Amino acid sequence: MAIILLISGPNLNMLGTREPEIYGSDTLLECVSDARQAAEDAGHELEDMQSNHEGALIEAIQQARGRCAAIVINPGAFTHTSFAIADALASFDGVKVELHLSNPSSREEWRRTSVVAPYVTGTVAGFGRGGYRLAIDAAVGMIGGAE
Ligand code: DQA
Repeated sequence: MAIILLISGPNLNMLGTREPEIYGSDTLLECVSDARQAAEDAGHELEDMQSNHEGALIEAIQQARGRCAAIVINPGAFTHTSFAIADALASFDGVKVELHLSNPSSREEWRRTSVVAPYVTGTVAGFGRGGYRLAIDAAVGMIGGAE
């Protein structure tokens, strides 16, 4: 059994009411619950955290070192700006999945660059709430299933 850490960045606590035409009407709690179910189906444990603060996200990544087998992270708008989160991810040696509800590559120009992308194993984007299960399944596949 491994621990998978799901990290949600800024404004994701507003899911459900935040631009539902883009992000859907499901809450973060419902998305996290899907992720937890997917992790448990595979015999793993899910930990989750959300913060609107860059430093708190960095500390969560640092504290996962040596403890969590995988990180699934939706960095919100920090995806496009945070070299500090990118550096933190670079130093985590487990599986890393970048997750987005929308498909940032098909949106505004400023969303088309992810500064964290070079440091992740892979990305799941554009599948809304369904992406949470997909991202956990992808992480589970890379850590080799239940041990
Ligand atoms: C997002 C996409 C980002 O561009 C945006 O800033 C978000 C959410 C997504 O899940 O689609 O906050 O990460």
